[in-house]
Amino acid sequence: MKVLVTGGLGFIGSHTVVELQNNGFEVVIIDDCSNSSVKVLEGITEITGVKPFFKKMDLRDKAAVHQFFKEHNDIGGVIHFAASKAVGESVEKPLLYYENNLNTLIYILQEILELESSNFIFSSSCTVYGQADKMPITESAPVKPAESPYGNTKQIGEEIIRDTCKVTPRLQAISLRYFNPMGAHPSTHIGELPVGVPQNLVPFITQTGVGLREELSVFGDDYPTPDGTCVRDYIHVVDLAKAHVVAMQRILQKDNDKNYEVFNVGTGSGSSVLEVISSFEKVAERPLRYKIVDRREGDVITAYADTTKANQVLNWKAESSLDEAMKSAWDWELKIRS
Ligand code: WQD
Repeated sequence: MKVLVTGGLGFIGSHTVVELQNNGFEVVIIDDCSNSSVKVLEGITEITGVKPFFKKMDLRDKAAVHQFFKEHNDIGGVIHFAASKAVGESVEKPLLYYENNLNTLIYILQEILELESSNFIFSSSCTVYGQADKMPITESAPVKPAESPYGNTKQIGEEIIRDTCKVTPRLQAISLRYFNPMGAHPSTHIGELPVGVPQNLVPFITQTGVGLREELSVFGDDYPTPDGTCVRDYIHVVDLAKAHVVAMQRILQKDNDKNYEVFNVGTGSGSSVLEVISSFEKVAERPLRYKIVDRREGDVITAYADTTKANQVLNWKAESSLDEAMKSAWDWELKIRS
């Protein structure tokens, strides 16, 4: 079956393409390469032995999107990763984020509804929970007002899909709420390629470890957590990618009466910033230079997933430990700097 992966050259997208191909799906990719490289195709091909079809395209071009679907009217499912994802930038450029993340979602959904089978998976985020009242966070936890336009695009995106599913029973959709993805494919053929100074913790750590950055700033050590630093649920990107495959398989089985479902995708356990640093020091066998600085605005204190629903309904569970994920991130960093 043919699956369209938008943003298929990006960090999570590329790992998902690999897992889809490993599970017998034919993949076609759309990516505008604004935050990715066409070289990623080589990495995917190296791992799977199959070069997926790739079309460079800006999804804001509605006519081009329509033409693409006309030419590929045998698409059986769509996984939609393509989006802008920098929280800080979204505050500076809200309209760009609403256009990039919501107009494109609408165009894609409009085309999917014209297909023989309308199957859709959306990249959502744990950011929709804000600072949840209870840990671990279940899918029924309230969605809190978004802290940034980026976060808001994920909330509104989910609402757009839910409302469309309500009136379109033949549309089957799943939103996956990612916690904190990290790591790289163990082959080191694909991994994270942050543009400029990384905003996320793990690429900043590995870049510091390799000498590209002088030291890591730890944003606050006076939080009400065991060691005072923030706690997150770090999930290996390969585990996250596999969740998309099982979600697609569930949609294709169509044996459930709900045509819209939401799943948390995390490991179920939290790690503090200092624990992540320790993991790095262990797997890289070197100390990391870091200093404690002020809290970062907008950070929640603690967020980790209750993954019971994904465990039971999707029969999926994250398999990798923090150290294994960190090892893959480190191997990747060493490879791209060599
Ligand atoms: C993790 C922890 C920081 C950098 C982001 C997005 C969110 C969602 C998940 C996609 C925090 C600390 C970080 C640094 C630090 N993504 N940190 N020094 O903020 O949990 O969430 O990814 O939807 O929307 O915002 O991830 O990696 O930025 O931070 O101390 O230089 O590391 O304070 O506690 P975050 P992150």
